This record gives sequence, structure tokens and C-alpha cells, in this order.
Amino acid sequence: MINNKIAIKVNRVSQSRVKEIDWENLSFGREFSDHMLEMNFENGKWQTPEIKPFGELKMHPAMSAIHYGQSIFEGMKASRSGDKEILLFRPDMNAERFRESSERMCMPTIAIDDFVDMIRKLVEIDSEWVPKANGYSLYIRPFLFATDEFIGIKPSNNYKFLIFTCPVGVYYSEPVNVKIEEFYTRASLGGVGGAKTAGNYAASLYPAKKGNEQGFDQLLWTDGIEHKYIEESGTMNIVFEIDGKLITPAEDTDTILKGITKRSVVEVAGHLNIPMEERKITVEEVVTALREGRVTDAFGAGTAATIAPIAKIGFRDELFEIPKDSPRASSSEIRQFLQDVKDGTIEDIFNWMVKV
Ligand code: PLP
Ligand code: COI
Repeated sequence: MINNKIAIKVNRVSQSRVKEIDWENLSFGREFSDHMLEMNFENGKWQTPEIKPFGELKMHPAMSAIHYGQSIFEGMKASRSGDKEILLFRPDMNAERFRESSERMCMPTIAIDDFVDMIRKLVEIDSEWVPKANGYSLYIRPFLFATDEFIGIKPSNNYKFLIFTCPVGVYYSEPVNVKIEEFYTRASLGGVGGAKTAGNYAASLYPAKKGNEQGFDQLLWTDGIEHKYIEESGTMNIVFEIDGKLITPAEDTDTILKGITKRSVVEVAGHLNIPMEERKITVEEVVTALREGRVTDAFGAGTAATIAPIAKIGFRDELFEIPKDSPRASSSEIRQFLQDVKDGTIEDIFNWMVKV
């Protein structure tokens, strides 16, 4: 039983749906656990959160989030350590990023401990929904949106914070093909690319659809000014292995989402003595290395995507393939380390995991 500092009302379902789930064939984001947590911001303060049966929301047609996009979210996961404990992966980092996104979008912030406690309580109540099989986990989606019933443009006075959870399998079941995007822009300096806000994803749909029509699963975004530097992909940060060294774009602008998986990859690489650099990477450097066969691995890093191998990279009319016989040894070692920490099969030397 969790000793929450924040008081949470609980209204449980009378009948769980957990037995209806086909655990062998879970896809991503289509099954929803029994409960959700709801907390409203009204009269200048957060009201008591309530865990209640998962279900539909009522909304006013003028609700400001749907008109002007004042809406942010997070994505995180819970896993099982054997049959015993349920563990959250670095929830404090999601809480911190959520706070930063709230500030950028003029929304009220939630204290880090309260954010984590609300997640722990919800996952504790729906603990039966945390998958038991390898490679599956419980995806947790906290989100916050503006609820003023007013069509003038200003920061809303009222907000709704919700958390729901989904038992999930892998997001990408196959290695991903990406295209280096040189025309469309995901984020520009001074914009909202560093915030996890809904509009970033909406804006990427059209360019991604054009990429899909050319056979690519995702785009590899470049900077919005010169399209000269590699930034990230649509659902994950990006890492290349060039000349035997892992390289990932530095997060020194507000145009790249500060990924928790990517940060963990950097830390694990350090621990395993795998050479890794975080720095600006030009498109030219990557394309030249691809042409010369010096790119031996490329992968995405993200909560949903996990460590997702990239198969092909498109640039203008060239298509490069990471050699099929490439051992991808460093990324495999890092993926295994992360998996073992999440499953509790190795010691959590970084103190990342938080028990539910
Ligand atoms: N970049 C974007 C645009 C994302 O949507 C995500 C997923 O959350 C990431 C990167 C990876 O971030 P994280 O590892 O924290 O999930
Ligand atoms: C995540 O990895 O949590 C994401 O937010 C990516 C995607 C599902 C939008």
C-alpha cells in the first residue's frame, strides 16, 4: 500500500475487464486499463485527484484545448521485476519534463512528488494490467489540457490532468526506415520543439505522410534554419554508430525533445565503456559516412520505441542500408542492460527504478 503524500479519492470499477485481454497479441495503445486518474485545476488551484473507472469525458464545444492546442503529455512505462514488484522507469524525469512543458505552454505545474505518487497509486490499483511476458509493459500516459469554455486566445484558467494506462507490446515491430527531411520543419529556435505538446505531433503528420508515401516509416528531422544538422525522429531520439563510436545530437537547443531513453543510453554507454559523443551532427557528416560504409548502426531511442534499429536511411534520391550483417553490438548491449534493469534482473546501479 502506498503512503501517498497527496490525498487521492478512489472509486473502483465493479467488474474488471482484465480477463478480456488477449495478452499474446497486444499491439500499442489500443487496450486501456480499468481506471484513470483525473485532477482538475479550478479557482487557481489543483482539486483533489480521483481515480475512477476509465471512460469517456464530456466536453464543451468551446473547450480551448481543441481550438488552440494548449495540451501536453508524457509517456512512460511500468514493468515487472519477476513476479514480485512493479517498477517505474525514471518517473521523476517524466515529472520534470512535464513541469517544463507546462511552463512553456502557460499551464499550471504539478509538484514532482505528487506527479510520481499519482502514477504509483494508479498503477498499484491496476497492477493486474502490467503484462507478465517479456517484451511487454504498461504504458502510462499522463496529459494536461485547457478546459476554459471561451474562444478568445489567452492561457486558460481551468485545466484537466488525466492519467490512463495501456498494456502494450512493441511500437515498431520491424526495423525502421527513415528519411532525412530537408524541407519541412518540426521545430525552430524559440519554438516549442523541446516541449511535449500536442501541436508538435499534429504538425509532423503531413510531412510524415509524404515520407510514408515514399516508403519511409519516420522522418529524420533537421534544424529549421539551414536543414544542416540532424535533430531527432518523430517518436524517438536518434543515435548513429560512425567509425565505431556512438554519436547523438546534443540537446543544446530547445528544438529537440530531451529524451529520457536517450539520456539513459548515454549513461549506460558511459558505464559499459562504449565510446559515445553528444554533439552537433551535420547531415553531410552522416551522409558522407553512409556513402563510405562507415555507419555500422543507427537506432532510435524512446519510451514507446525502446531501442529501435534503423534499417534504411533516405537522403534526396539516395537510399542507404545499414549492412544486414552489421553486429550492432553496442546497441544490443545497451538494450539488454536497459531491459535487465527494468526487469530487475541486474542491480539498479543508477537508482532509476521506482517501486509502485
Ligand atoms: N522525441 C520525440 C519527438 C518523442 O515523441 C519521444 C517520445 O517520447 C522521444 C524523442 C523520446 O523520449 P523518451 O525517451 O523520453 O520517451
Ligand atoms: C513515447 O515514447 O512515449 C511517445 O510519446 C512517442 C509516441 C507514442 C507519441
